[in-house]
Amino acid sequence: MPSILVTGANRGLGLEFTRQYADDGWRVYACCRDPGAAPALREIAGHCHGRVSLHAVSLDDPESIRALARDLEGHPIDVLVNNAGTYGLKGFAEGGMQAQAFGSMEYDGWEHAFAINTMAPLRVIEALIGNVAASQQKKIFTVSSSMGSIAAPPGGHLAYGSTKAAVNFVMTTLALELSDQGITVMSLHPGWVETDMGGSMAPLKPSDSIAGLRKVIAGASPATSGQFIGWDGNPVPW
Ligand SMILES: NC(=O)c1ccc[n+]([C@@H]2O[C@H](COP(=O)([O-])OP(=O)(O)OC[C@H]3O[C@@H](n4cnc5c(N)ncnc54)[C@H](OP(=O)(O)O)[C@@H]3O)[C@@H](O)[C@H]2O)c1
Repeated sequence: MPSILVTGANRGLGLEFTRQYADDGWRVYACCRDPGAAPALREIAGHCHGRVSLHAVSLDDPESIRALARDLEGHPIDVLVNNAGTYGLKGFAEGGMQAQAFGSMEYDGWEHAFAINTMAPLRVIEALIGNVAASQQKKIFTVSSSMGSIAAPPGGHLAYGSTKAAVNFVMTTLALELSDQGITVMSLHPGWVETDMGGSMAPLKPSDSIAGLRKVIAGASPATSGQFIGWDGNPVPW
């Protein structure tokens, strides 16, 4: 049975990753800050007879990531998905865009976004690399964003976009460094999706975004390592 680890599994895209892989019979390690306060996730786990386990992980706490690695020692992870992310200390709907605009940047929010969107994915990969290396598929993904594109910047979103551009750099570097172990490393763009982060105007449903990303993940191989691919299977401009 293939296995996947997903961060931010309690809501939004992470919950949908968990739902779809669980429905498909995978072993899912579902990570979120507070599994006790994640009813939708607990419901999925409840139907899966132990195939979906819940793990408390706060990505701003390195010890919590180390504890996850201790819990999972000896368990191969075929697919590792760094999905959790934040727009900043203020969400988009809470005036977050103004808080990261030129001239009104709130630097503590940028620092926070950098810790969660850029540094935490690397910490998780460092902590779990042995689990991935011991698996059959050996694939690592970070859910990035086209808002991190340097070639086609969206305008604004200085903090969020820069953390995603930076995590893309992390991923391309790891693609090089882990290639000799046969590990595939890629950045993903989910599209603009109706979640708490994406908001109600978003054109894509989580189910469609994740169905598309699952195809990308299934097709990923050492030959595609280092790429930045969208939910529709197309490359995203760096
Ligand atoms: N939705 C879009 O349109 C869109 C577009 C491009 C990229 N993305 C990316 O897709 C990923 C998922 O986004 P989403 O739309 O599902 O967002 P979301 O609905 O806001 O969910 C964010 C998830 O990240 C978790 N998280 C945030 N900070 C955390 C921390 N310090 N420790 C542990 N978990 C933390 C949240 O957990 P809590 O519930 O505990 O806060 C939640 O599970 C993110 O990386 C996002 O940047 C989304």
